[in-house]
Amino acid sequence: FGLLAVGFCSAPLNAQAPGLAAHWTFEEGSGTVAADASGNGHSGMLQGGAGWAPGLVGAHALRLPGRPGSFVDVPAPAVDTTKSFTAAAWVKVNDVSGFQTFVSIDGDRVSGFYLQLRADTGRFGFAVLPGDDPGDNRPALASANDDPEPDTWYHLAGVYDATAQTVTLYVNGQPQETVPFKSSWRAPGHTEIGRGKFGGRPVDFVGGAIDDVRLYQAALPAADVRALAQPYLQAAAPAAPLGPVTLAINVGQVTAHVSPLLYGLMTEEISHSYDGGLYAELIQNRVFKDNPDAPAHWSLVQDGGATGAIALDTGQPLSAALPVSLKLTVSSASGTQRAGAANDGYWGIPVTPNTRYRVSFYAKADPAFAGPLTLSIESNDGATVYARARVANIGPGWKQYAATLTTGTVAPTEAARFVVSASRPGTLWLDLVSLFPPTYHNRPNGNRVDLMQKLADMKPAFLRLPGGNYLEGNTIAERFEWKDTVGPLTGRPGHQGPWGYRSSDGMGLLEFLEWCEDLRMQPVLAVYAGFSLRGEYVAPGPALQPYVQDALDEIEYVAGDASTRWGAERVKDGHPAPFPLHYVEIGNEDFFDRSGSYDGRFAQFYDAIKAKYPKLQLIATTRVRSRTPDVIDEHYYRSAREMERDAHHYDGYSRTGPKVFVGEWASQEGRPTPDMNAALGDAAWMTGMERNSDVVVIESYAPLFVNVNPGGSQWGTNLIGYDALTSYGSPSYYAQQMFSRYHGDVVLGATLDGAPRLSYDVTRDSRKGTVYLKVVNTAGMAQPAHVTVGGVRSVAPDGIAVVLTSAGPRDTNTLADPNHVVPRTLKVNGLGPNFSYTFPPYSITILEMQVR
Ligand code: AHR
Repeated sequence: FGLLAVGFCSAPLNAQAPGLAAHWTFEEGSGTVAADASGNGHSGMLQGGAGWAPGLVGAHALRLPGRPGSFVDVPAPAVDTTKSFTAAAWVKVNDVSGFQTFVSIDGDRVSGFYLQLRADTGRFGFAVLPGDDPGDNRPALASANDDPEPDTWYHLAGVYDATAQTVTLYVNGQPQETVPFKSSWRAPGHTEIGRGKFGGRPVDFVGGAIDDVRLYQAALPAADVRALAQPYLQAAAPAAPLGPVTLAINVGQVTAHVSPLLYGLMTEEISHSYDGGLYAELIQNRVFKDNPDAPAHWSLVQDGGATGAIALDTGQPLSAALPVSLKLTVSSASGTQRAGAANDGYWGIPVTPNTRYRVSFYAKADPAFAGPLTLSIESNDGATVYARARVANIGPGWKQYAATLTTGTVAPTEAARFVVSASRPGTLWLDLVSLFPPTYHNRPNGNRVDLMQKLADMKPAFLRLPGGNYLEGNTIAERFEWKDTVGPLTGRPGHQGPWGYRSSDGMGLLEFLEWCEDLRMQPVLAVYAGFSLRGEYVAPGPALQPYVQDALDEIEYVAGDASTRWGAERVKDGHPAPFPLHYVEIGNEDFFDRSGSYDGRFAQFYDAIKAKYPKLQLIATTRVRSRTPDVIDEHYYRSAREMERDAHHYDGYSRTGPKVFVGEWASQEGRPTPDMNAALGDAAWMTGMERNSDVVVIESYAPLFVNVNPGGSQWGTNLIGYDALTSYGSPSYYAQQMFSRYHGDVVLGATLDGAPRLSYDVTRDSRKGTVYLKVVNTAGMAQPAHVTVGGVRSVAPDGIAVVLTSAGPRDTNTLADPNHVVPRTLKVNGLGPNFSYTFPPYSITILEMQVR
């Protein structure tokens, strides 16, 4: 929490302040009574192990040991919770974990309010429940903006404003969050300091200290809350910097090798990652299958008095895979009049200056249609045409037509649409209507340049494809059926994905592999293993055999040569060279398979794949007993604090069992993309994976992409955000990039004496002699360190620091401000076998040193 640099400018509210209902100063310092200084007779009794501690406001405070039964009991409700009230207290916790309620009033089953630390967010909150019923336990919660520190005094104030019907939390006098709430019940029980009530039982006991607790039968205005906190802020968080710590690196001690494959990408069709994302196609619903009842994303254009109609037509199939076409009837049009169909793209069509767009479509016309067809990219009202082309001679049979649309000097916009129109009467049918901007490496049917460049900048070593849930599908019929995703687009039916929309499958298996090739990644191929999200599964045995065969065929398509059946198919599809393949994952998150069939399914796939490809490393998605997998895929979606706390997760891991693929993980803070706090949690977690890279051989953050348009996303926190026109990397993206770009091939021994909010690891590039010291400081204070570098003859005085930091942990990047939090590269000097370095507050630092 950023503390205000303030003087003692205003006096605290006194006992006579309007509405003061109770005030416990805890100045007794001994005995078991906490008197009410308001004069309203609400004195309390210390219970259990409650005692006394040095105070912040005055000499004494209440000390609570964090044990059930220890709190202060006041045998009456000090305020009426149906009316406006304020609960305020200074609090200090020993450990920032669990639920800890500082002030509450009992109902029968729950508390009337909870001024508390919350386990689910790791933050302070002011929570109120709609009724005295633990069954309805969704609170109105006003939450703090930042994570608290242990052993630090904070002033909390929860305000219920019955007139505005809101609850607000203040921390250190600063408003945090206000949420709507209307109180409908009066908590009639005891006022409690140091616990709450839930499910009819006392809960949330506090470990730490509480001082100067006040209850007001009034919604204190912000200025009054500030005045309560302000005089004590300096004492609560002295500006004195943290003392130095010692970080000792032993270059002579290699503790592990860094897996060359450690940093990679995980991807799937979620939040419009491909359609409306990486896959550069600009037309949404190009094959008219998104909605069986209407041509979704297409609309009728009738300009200048022309009339016409558009409709889905299943009577003119283009192919077995694409049985639906768009019938465009131009009833009347002449001269400059036009009738046609407009596509709104994926939240617009991106228009950039001097750009060539490739249009292609299949069409057929009735003989009466004289053409031509006009293709245009234009503003949504049709008033501005950015690019236009004509295609003449549309014949009576299905045929593919192509054209180029070129923009001139235009201001970039995505407020645009694509229109196919005619100025003569007639009927025609359209299918597979496609519009591509320039693609990465100019691949036909390729990928968006800006997004590919962002991925290239991460220097990823692998791509886990085609996904997690996306591989499985909601049902077996909706799984990723790879054979339907290869070959000409006219043969790809597309399919319903598990995230609420159809996939065009323009990003098919070969496109995934070419994406790997473009970024010099190797594929980590996940094969469908007979289990889908809604619980359908295929029992091991003969029924599973076709799926096992499908996986063998898929492996052959990826890695087989032209002499193999499926290798030859790939050659026919335009890629003669086999792709390198070393890892195959069998299924996804099969711990969700409650039938217990994974053990048998894994064994059947394992045996068949190993028999044909003994060198392939096989990944299980959960623990199995039937076979010993080479690697196990583990997933962690957590808060930043949980990630940081668990940074030593793999330090004591078995070195004799299967290796680990941390195939999905993220600090889930910040929407739609992570903020700086999440990046700090991520980086702390990555120090642990890198330090233990002999066990954690591959890792990938998830999910990778999000289309940030309203309705574009199905997942909270995603690495890279975009709309049709531009994109940005989140702070977590830059953390990934830093770790992936700056690591050596061996992990070095290192120790750190005391600094609870620092995470670190040290690696060395043994060829170049470069040592990389990575330090993550999640504290809001700068952390000085003495660094010693042992086991070397010399350390060059000049080095480089790559630093990602920001003023506050909630800082983030957005489309509008994409470079708010980005790494800076600085020259540093004064390095040596002993040197001092200060790690900034909220920072990720990589110090690059040359040693001999
Ligand atoms: O990454 C998003 C989803 O999270 C993946 O589809 C799934 O594997 C996991 O549950």
